[in-house]
Amino acid sequence: MHAITTFDSAEMLIGEAWVTADETLAVQDPSTGEEIARIARGGAADIDAAVSAAEAALAGEWGRMSAAERGRILARIGQAVAAEVEMLALLEARDVGKPLKQARADALALARYMEFYGGAADKLTGQTIPFQAGYTVYTLREPHGVTGHIIPWNYPMQILGRSVGAALAAGNACVLKPAEEACLTALAFARIARDAGLPVGALNVVTGLGAEAGAALAGHPRVHHISFTGSVPTGALIQAAAGKNIVPVTLELGGKSPQLVFADCDLEAALPFLVGPGVQNAGQTCSAASRILVQREIFDEVATRMAEAYRALRIGPAVEDLDVGPLVSARQKAIVAGFLDALPAEQILARPELGELPPGGHYVAPALVAGAAPGDRIARDEIFGPVQVLLPFETEAEAVEIANGTDYGLVAGVWTANGARQFRLARDLRAGQVFVNNYGAGGGVELPFGGIGKSGHGREKGFEALYGFTTLKTVAVRHD
Ligand code: NAI
Ligand code: MG
Repeated sequence: MHAITTFDSAEMLIGEAWVTADETLAVQDPSTGEEIARIARGGAADIDAAVSAAEAALAGEWGRMSAAERGRILARIGQAVAAEVEMLALLEARDVGKPLKQARADALALARYMEFYGGAADKLTGQTIPFQAGYTVYTLREPHGVTGHIIPWNYPMQILGRSVGAALAAGNACVLKPAEEACLTALAFARIARDAGLPVGALNVVTGLGAEAGAALAGHPRVHHISFTGSVPTGALIQAAAGKNIVPVTLELGGKSPQLVFADCDLEAALPFLVGPGVQNAGQTCSAASRILVQREIFDEVATRMAEAYRALRIGPAVEDLDVGPLVSARQKAIVAGFLDALPAEQILARPELGELPPGGHYVAPALVAGAAPGDRIARDEIFGPVQVLLPFETEAEAVEIANGTDYGLVAGVWTANGARQFRLARDLRAGQVFVNNYGAGGGVELPFGGIGKSGHGREKGFEALYGFTTLKTVAVRHD
């Protein structure tokens, strides 16, 4: 096993200071169950200090900086992250159990977010608006001020990048609360960003528990916007806490994303996209392709081919860089096992062998499920593990009804050669993103992303995110 050589000092970044807390929390390697580091158990006082540090940044150098200069700093941070991809990937692999190549992809995405939002910072403009004679009216895109970022453990670097990157580009000062299961790359990023020239207080990182540091941030009266990715129940708590202060929130709460596979599609092209986005990151992906809807004529063929792919999956410790690593925690493993244990055995179509694995790791053999009804829990609820459910359909109308038949609406995929159907389904599917003859689980820095229904509201990623991280001021000047 590789040793964690950096950033295991249980410090948080508040303003210019790296500070400790009275208590610390263990950081566990999910591949082995070993404790590999400790993080600070920050609380309400630390959040308050971080908000003050962010306010000071807005009143100082950061708040006065030109958009071009902010962009230049973000671009420099992106280059510095790109130079540390291997270190960051290893840290993430050990911290959350993500196979190295997936961790590397996340680190590269973090660099790319900084590059993208660095380039966008000075292109965010307002409008001039024709009004009555003798007036000039224009709009200003202004930062909210202090933005809170509460992020999960499944794609720590990507979600940090899309959220903090856009907020900084728009001129906000950030308080980041990473998930207690995944703080190491956030702390490493903060060091890289400061070294690359990010002014003091523009980014503050407070580690700790959701119910403590997280709740303090969500309910802080001097925070002006909260961006959250995570579970539906926690999203509801955060929206309620922010609501008390009339603070806007962006919520990205996961899904039960379908891919619709029609008999006329190019199946060879589709197959890698059917399994990959289901088991990537051990299925702990908000936009995982967790439901595969297949037209009856090709159902058996798709089931057979996917079952073959499942049996060939290799599972092991993150640093061995196989197809599937462990789940992030014993708790997450128990959630997924709960779903699978409740299933009739004949509904499990294929599962690979687990083989010899470190006994303390949180491994679950991926499971391909068939024979469940669309309304069954396994086919309707988010599992957040390496489980995909195959569902047959006869007609396009039935496919749409099944696809839209959950509380979620994050991503959908459509595989068909029929051009009119491609456009029709892009219109009819309830989702924040629709992929036609491809599928991206989490990819695409440039692509606006977010959900409808219980998948949340607001959009992150792409240029669109910058609107969410700004407020609009209308200025009407009367001059005759
Ligand atoms: P969670 O939603 O509770 O945690 C996500 C973040 O929220 C973490 O930073 C956590 O510290 C923080 N948090 C927790 N309680 C809070 C509170 N009361 N106030 C403010 N912040 C709080 O999710 P958890 O417990 O890690 O995972 C449970 C389930 O959530 C998973 O099984 C999965 O279904 C879903 N999930 C969805 C994600 C997505 O990408 N949409 C990401 C992670 C989890
Ligand atoms: Mg961990």
